[in-house]
Amino acid sequence: MCGIVGYVGEKQAAPILLDGLSKLEYRGYDSAGIAVFDGEKINMTKAKGRLKVLEELTHDGATLPGVVGVGHTRWATHGEPSDVNAHPHLNQKGTIAVVHNGIIENYLKLKKKLTGKGYKFVSDTDTEVIAHLLDYYYDGNPLRAITKVMHRMEGSYALGIIFKDYPDELYAVRKDSPLIVGNTEGGSIIASDVPAVLKYTRDVYFIENEEIVRMKKDSMEFFNVDEEAIEKESTHIEWDVDAAEKGGYEHFMLKEMYEQPKAIEDTFSPRIKGKDIVIEELGMSDEEIRAVKKIMIVACGSAYHAGMTGKYVLEGMARIPVEVDLASEFRYRDPILEEGTLVVVISQSGETADSLAALRESHARGAKVLGIVNVVGSSIAREADNVMYTWAGPEIAVATTKAYSCQLIALYLLALKFSKVRGQISDSELSQYIEDLKRIPDQVELLLNNKNKIQKFANRYVAARDVFFIGRGIDYAISLEGSLKLKEISYIHSEAYAAGELKHGTISLIEEGTLVTAVLTQEDLYKKMISNVVEVRTRGAFVLAVTNEGNDEIKRAADYVIYIPETNRFFTNSLAIIPLQLFGYYIAVGKGCDVDKPRNLAKSVTVE
Ligand code: AGP
Repeated sequence: MCGIVGYVGEKQAAPILLDGLSKLEYRGYDSAGIAVFDGEKINMTKAKGRLKVLEELTHDGATLPGVVGVGHTRWATHGEPSDVNAHPHLNQKGTIAVVHNGIIENYLKLKKKLTGKGYKFVSDTDTEVIAHLLDYYYDGNPLRAITKVMHRMEGSYALGIIFKDYPDELYAVRKDSPLIVGNTEGGSIIASDVPAVLKYTRDVYFIENEEIVRMKKDSMEFFNVDEEAIEKESTHIEWDVDAAEKGGYEHFMLKEMYEQPKAIEDTFSPRIKGKDIVIEELGMSDEEIRAVKKIMIVACGSAYHAGMTGKYVLEGMARIPVEVDLASEFRYRDPILEEGTLVVVISQSGETADSLAALRESHARGAKVLGIVNVVGSSIAREADNVMYTWAGPEIAVATTKAYSCQLIALYLLALKFSKVRGQISDSELSQYIEDLKRIPDQVELLLNNKNKIQKFANRYVAARDVFFIGRGIDYAISLEGSLKLKEISYIHSEAYAAGELKHGTISLIEEGTLVTAVLTQEDLYKKMISNVVEVRTRGAFVLAVTNEGNDEIKRAADYVIYIPETNRFFTNSLAIIPLQLFGYYIAVGKGCDVDKPRNLAKSVTVE
């Protein structure tokens, strides 16, 4: 996720672009840049680091005079954060500048084609392909060049574009990435999101897929991909800037929960090619995949919980022995890593000290390390032998939701790849798993829309002192994450237990009214779980059950049941986690806690 802005009008563009970018830093902040036409040529300044670096370099925009320009604040997906990978990107002649939010999925194919035609690339980004492709199709008509490029690109994009030959025009295009445009006093502005324009206007046009906008200081024209003029209605925005940054949600955490369907799709779609799983960044041949004897997953917190799910999925599907360990334990226990062990380090931030130390410890023992990381170019991403990115976009709330969900998806993809290559699943089974994977975003959306029911239930437990989460197998893994979500933002004590372990001590804590959340998504374990539910209920517990649609048996045992839609037994954690995230969130909200910034916690624990 990145932030784009653009301006054309009577005022100096650079200060307006910088101001707009400052309101979009929540969308990405590893590098930033602006390009402005000064009447003769397009001048550009861009730099790695926060927007402040760019503001200082350009003396708050003074070094880039001109009344038309585009700007960008980046969350790297292709090409790590650097000056050269920062946007805007220019064609070789420097006569076209483009900023982009999204992922061009076929950029490597287009890059190869353009290189073959003599184009020289300077960056590792997918976006630079757009600048050269516009150049390739440009024959003096910007609109025609844009529509031709649109027909060639696959993936998602919101673009801001300026052409040297048209110094009083600004173009914008949208497919699957958000884009709004608006009129300001004596000018027009484009942005990825509402916060960037509220200072100038509250009346905006939300651009739909495959629509193009041509703006001048006193006009705005809309076109479809066939270059036909279209009419659009403006929308009046009531939000204040703070609400707008959260997309109208009360907290970043809730916003990010609602971003999960798209984040999940962004993580799996580039890796599904027809009926096959293709993970180019794995850097392993089929022979090397077959040679793996064991997988050692190492992480902290929610990433560790994702790893616990990964154990059940990889062992159950790919029949590979998997060990999961806390990075803080792994790094000091003189771990034994036999020949043929693949270490997988999972980390949203890619900067967690214990996880980075565990990666280095693995290398010291001669093991190969695969990173599953959200932040492109982070330390763990750079030091791992190979890295699979979770394209969740920047996650602002301390309590992870969308990044965790994308970690699960990455582990499913890894398990499917390994299972197929190692002959554990057939083509038809792989096709069915891929179909199940593709249904997850809509199923997550369905569960999120169930939030009022969960909010009502959560309000009854705002005063709870102890909450237990129990499950067996893969449901134990999700119980760990459900418990952490609750305790880290509501400060209510909570524990997750393997349900079969309760009777070995902890059940003595269950008393009248204790809330126990039981997760039952594994049909072969329903009966065992129901007897555990009965055990705690007879001791006074109130039981919230999260289970598969169709499991009516649980109604007799539990007090309150939340159903999740049908999927295969390995993917149920992606659905069961949604009501548990919402449960923890609404209890914390009910207690008046600082949901996005819980006490004592940091988004990335870069110290021991
Ligand atoms: C989870 O909600 C917490 N933010 C925390 O447990 C987190 O998962 C852990 O610190 C690991 O962070 P990482 O994924 O950035 O390495």
